[in-house]
Amino acid sequence: MMKIKIEGLNINGEGFCNLDKTKICVKNVLPNEVVEIESVIKKNNFIGARLINVEKSSPYRIKEKCKFCGNCGGCDFMFVDYDKGLEIKKQVIAKYFKDLYNGDIIIHKSKKEFFYRNKVSFYVENDKIGLLGLKSKNIVEIDKCIVSKEGINKVLKISRDYLKAIKNISIHHIVVRELGSGIIIVLVSDKKPKDIKLILNSLKKEFGENFGLYINYNCKNSKDILSDKFEFIYGQKYLQSVVNGIICFTKPYSFMQINDDVRNEMYESVKNEIKGESVIEGYSGAGILSCIMAKVAKKVVSIEINKTATQDAEKTRKENNIINLENINGDCSKILPQIISENKDAIFVIDPPRSGCSKNILEKLKENQVKKIIYISCNPYTLKQNLVYLKESFKIDKFEIFDIFPQTFEIESMVILKSK
Ligand SMILES: C[S@@+](CC[C@H](N)C(=O)[O-])C[C@H]1O[C@@H](n2cnc3c(N)ncnc32)[C@H](O)[C@@H]1O
Repeated sequence: MMKIKIEGLNINGEGFCNLDKTKICVKNVLPNEVVEIESVIKKNNFIGARLINVEKSSPYRIKEKCKFCGNCGGCDFMFVDYDKGLEIKKQVIAKYFKDLYNGDIIIHKSKKEFFYRNKVSFYVENDKIGLLGLKSKNIVEIDKCIVSKEGINKVLKISRDYLKAIKNISIHHIVVRELGSGIIIVLVSDKKPKDIKLILNSLKKEFGENFGLYINYNCKNSKDILSDKFEFIYGQKYLQSVVNGIICFTKPYSFMQINDDVRNEMYESVKNEIKGESVIEGYSGAGILSCIMAKVAKKVVSIEINKTATQDAEKTRKENNIINLENINGDCSKILPQIISENKDAIFVIDPPRSGCSKNILEKLKENQVKKIIYISCNPYTLKQNLVYLKESFKIDKFEIFDIFPQTFEIESMVILKSK
């Protein structure tokens, strides 16, 4: 066991301390805390440690509001006062990007610190339902998730009763998404689950006609929780919601930002960057931002790899009578380079998955000296890699953080890049 003083947090939310030439990293700590730790991994000049005891606590450490904290792997930053936590996120980002940007970083806080999540994928094993554990990959049974919306919590209870009643052996996940006044439930199973009427009746009792039920056929050990084999069972096929004046139609499979209020604020910030120009959007999901931008752009071309998401995007476009938007279903790394060469004067909006933007796209953006890029990222690590790649041709004009994931150390950034 060792005693150390925490110097600061790194980009993964771990506290660090430099002892001689060794860097020690440990989770669940705050700057200036004195803590007892035990080493878990030792490699060259690095020690990955586990927290044993907080000897001198930070004034910003608070008691977690969730009784599953410490067991459930869901929220890793609930032990920190919300406003201080945001300040820490800002400091960490400022330090991490200091070689590339030393201007102000604007923070957009979440109106809701709890009950904000609009989607959860619950893990199921027989009649157990919950989330994956912090220390193991076993399911931690929960009866409430205080970062998820109320309707999702009601589905959690209904699902548990149903799994018990049918002595479940085939369902291994239950995915729930709540948007507007509706909720969609997907039972992910190897084969058709037993007595679906049971869960259907409970859902009708709770939500009236404001829900949709699907089965998704997928094997337990698949890489992705959902396959593309859906069976629609009952109710609403789409979730209908209004986002910044756009009526949206979303199916269970399409990507959607999980915090409605902060997402809306982020989309508004993107919209404010566009004043009549043409926009090319890569990694466009269910196309909501595309419609919002189309209201102020000359035209928008959006590219998304997921077929259902592009179908949702098309439905949303048509229902909103938007005619200056083209939704393309395809792989950005194959389609975007050509589009960049043909649309040098456009604004480019990219919002890639955690792995970041493809190198060949970044290369084309540089080669064509496009005027402006709006880069949205949920992973500061790949964001930095990509920005370093772009730095000889572009300068960072604005850096904003959107707190889409309160109670976790996840950070969503929006960076505006302008040609040098
Ligand atoms: C972080 S989400 C952004 C979605 C959208 N901008 C929004 O705000 O809802 C990333 C999206 O990129 C899509 N995607 C992943 N790899 C892709 C690729 N190679 N080409 C096109 N789209 C891709 C995913 O399906 C997902 O919808």
